[in-house]
Amino acid sequence: MAEDLSRAFEPFKVGPLTLRNRFIKAATNEGMCKKGIVSKGLAEHHRAVAAGGAALTTVAYCATSMDGRTFVDQAVLSRENVADLRALTDGVHSEGGAACAQVTHAGCFTFLPQEELATSRPLSASGGFNKVGILSRRFTKKRMNRDEMSAMVDEFVSACRLAKECGFDAVELHMGHGYLLSQFVSRLYNHRRDAYGGKIEKRMKFPVEVLSRVLDAVGKDLAVVVKYSVTDGTRGGNTVEDGVEIARALEAAGAHMAVLSNGMNVESVSGIFGSSLPSEVRKPPENFIIRLGMRMQKITDFVPVEFSELYLLENSKRVRAAVDMPLCYIGGIQSSANVGAVLDAGFETMAMGRALVHDPSLINQWRDGTAEQSKCTACNHCVTMMYAPAGTACILQQDEAAAKEAARLNLIPASG
Ligand SMILES: Cc1cc2nc3c(=O)[nH]c(=O)nc-3n(C[C@H](O)[C@H](O)[C@H](O)COP(=O)(O)O)c2cc1C
Ligand code: SF4
Repeated sequence: MAEDLSRAFEPFKVGPLTLRNRFIKAATNEGMCKKGIVSKGLAEHHRAVAAGGAALTTVAYCATSMDGRTFVDQAVLSRENVADLRALTDGVHSEGGAACAQVTHAGCFTFLPQEELATSRPLSASGGFNKVGILSRRFTKKRMNRDEMSAMVDEFVSACRLAKECGFDAVELHMGHGYLLSQFVSRLYNHRRDAYGGKIEKRMKFPVEVLSRVLDAVGKDLAVVVKYSVTDGTRGGNTVEDGVEIARALEAAGAHMAVLSNGMNVESVSGIFGSSLPSEVRKPPENFIIRLGMRMQKITDFVPVEFSELYLLENSKRVRAAVDMPLCYIGGIQSSANVGAVLDAGFETMAMGRALVHDPSLINQWRDGTAEQSKCTACNHCVTMMYAPAGTACILQQDEAAAKEAARLNLIPASG
């Protein structure tokens, strides 16, 4: 019997923002920003998600500054991009949806070539050898001092203010997967012995400072959401107990909602996706650094992990039991039955990545009762396509002509 999904289509308030239903398009690093230009292709991607029924679509990721990028062709929350980002949010609003900017600084998780980064050593919670920098020949990272931390707080605040000016309805601060704030949260990266290192309460001190200042600056107008990794998904990393304490710290700081992800880009990519990246890539990524990066990831991800639906539900339930704040479930939602299970477990909202990359109209199909199961196979090929000329797309849905047209749109500014 088909699942009764009516409760999933009830509105829900996240901070000052009312979502029209409980469905969020998760961040899926779309690319589509050649030389940082926010393109028509990116705007169309998010318009289509809103037209397909999601309440909120997440633009990923928007760097706080040029130095905050992981790759060259990435969106930056800078004044030059306001008109194009405004065109993107206008498109989402025209379909009745809301738009969220995932706001991130890469820290040492950057593959920018030497000439693109102002500093020779990328910033992080702790200094020393930078394994991520092997590809870009940045072999050491710099432990941030207090002045650099204060400047970084200001950078996040300015970026979020700019997001508001661009018409975004929400910002998602990324504290997971190994980016800068995650480098403070995670035991794998934070080896400090001062007030910002040690137990999880101390590792959360700087990320919470960023969150509090962002809430002060834009929290009355924008939903301020935090995405984080409940576990780092690898030995020696954060455990589910840490994940629970992180949620408590976010709740105490007044975050409007937390998105409960998992894993780290470098150490445990299968922890993010609940399955390994494809070992045989039908369409090898054209970007050399991504190709090399994927090979490196394979070294840390040598035991193949097979996908199962709702792969993060058990850990997420541990967090649910510990806090009252709104929580967004993410990870392997593929069917209307999954939606019911997520709501039954007490999560107010749910985010979906791959199922909506495969078909952005799935939410409307669920609403209308014309589909139950997504046809996404969780093959993870889209993960390898982020920086292809056509940008993130489902390999099952995109033929050569469509890829060509997408690549063309990705070269035109969104407001052009
Ligand atoms: C192509 C692709 C790119 C992604 N890029 C990001 C990103 O930029 N930021 C982020 O927080 N998560 C990113 N993710 C992870 C998703 O947001 C989500 O956590 C993960 O895919 C699990 O959800 P799903 O099972 O619904 O796909 C990406 C996922 C995919 C498939
Ligand atoms: S390429 Fe398509 S089928 Fe494969 S995981 Fe991505 S969206 Fe799903």
